[in-house]
Amino acid sequence: MTKKIHSSDFGKNFIWGVSTAAFQIEGAHDKHGKGPSIWDVFTSRKGKIRGNDTAKTSCDFYHRYKEDIDLMKSLNIPNFRFSISWSRILPTGTGKINTEGIAFYNRVIDYCLEQDITPWITLYHWDLPHELELKGGWTNREILDWFEEYTKVCAQSFGDRVKHWMVLNEPMVFTGGGYFLGVHAPGKKGMRNFLPAVHHAQLSQAVGGRMIRKWIHDAKIGTTYSCSYIVPKNKSPRNIRAAKRVDALLNRLFIEPVLGLGYPEKDLPILIKLKPFILPGDMGKSQFEFDFIGIQNYTREVVQHSYFIPYIKAKIIEAPKRKVITTLMDWEVYPPSIYEMIRKYSEYCTMPNLIITENGAAFQDTFTEGKIKDKKRQKFLKDHLEQVLKAKKKGLNVHGYFVWTLTDNFEWAEGYHPGFGLVHVDFKTQKRTVKKSGKWYKNFLKDS
Ligand code: FCB
Repeated sequence: MTKKIHSSDFGKNFIWGVSTAAFQIEGAHDKHGKGPSIWDVFTSRKGKIRGNDTAKTSCDFYHRYKEDIDLMKSLNIPNFRFSISWSRILPTGTGKINTEGIAFYNRVIDYCLEQDITPWITLYHWDLPHELELKGGWTNREILDWFEEYTKVCAQSFGDRVKHWMVLNEPMVFTGGGYFLGVHAPGKKGMRNFLPAVHHAQLSQAVGGRMIRKWIHDAKIGTTYSCSYIVPKNKSPRNIRAAKRVDALLNRLFIEPVLGLGYPEKDLPILIKLKPFILPGDMGKSQFEFDFIGIQNYTREVVQHSYFIPYIKAKIIEAPKRKVITTLMDWEVYPPSIYEMIRKYSEYCTMPNLIITENGAAFQDTFTEGKIKDKKRQKFLKDHLEQVLKAKKKGLNVHGYFVWTLTDNFEWAEGYHPGFGLVHVDFKTQKRTVKKSGKWYKNFLKDS
């Protein structure tokens, strides 16, 4: 028998929640004045998304937000992280405000508060207004002004009721996937796009942070990072050095400038190429005292030296090739990774509080007699929570945990294939069915 784990083991003040993102759940892609985002455009291009799925309707959260917030309530979930769709409230990215978009988020926020659920807003979860992409998107330094304007609109509209804010979601993923590999929106490739996008996204963390601080004095402000525990394939010095480079790229690139440490170019020399984009004073402007940092962990990566991979000279050995247990995303199931990441980030002496703002898994779910007994997801969550508890007991700096995610939804380039939800969605009928993992989380959170 494995030992039971309960939210009370983490102490009274530990923060519990679920995380979502606008593009993945809202649907209503052109409703009530919403402008197109880069993801609307990207998903309309053939061959970009598995099965050519789109998120035009997705979970229809735009119309069903009450039902989903009620579900959260019924599952004892006290905190709800969601993102604002920039082009829903500023259809062309800047200028004219769409009051119907603002009204929608007001309804969501007010309903959360009525249900005693605390809203946590992410400003940018990847859905840049298409109009801004036509001007270069993240590669154009003007994005610092566009982002500042957008942040101000959000802070002024929602700041009276929303006190928990996150600036960016996983800048490494949206710059790497969207501006280097081209597998995410807007589908741009290569170093000439990636490098300016990195520097501007990096600076926008502090731009957003400062703007929220200016308008909402009592706000708790964070930003979030994807992170994976990186291990070399073996102890050979070449592989160890390769792992260090990948670690610098995936785990350090965006946080270190915020902490005043600059870019980690010593361990990843290619970052020297950022120089032309760095204007005098930029590294000072990158620093911001966040109240918390969100870390998002799903797996670990095993790394090997490779002459053939340009710039980084390292490659990730894909999990299926390593014959380990994987999720539907082909990510290795490796719970100690989350502990290692908490440990790693806790080691920075100026690191603010850490909150796990995403963790979860996609597995093949099947209905049996109207029920979804998703044992694997339940075990995944439990095993990861045990690692978080271990970190907490060792006195490491971790203060909260959000499951990714409430309902199955549109998983970016993977379309609707992998479901991460605690709740199943039948996308034909929009019927929600709480999975066994959802019931498990409910019991875990009971009386917390
Ligand atoms: C993270 C994203 C989130 C979701 C999960 C599975 O990288 O932030 O939107 O797609 O992965």
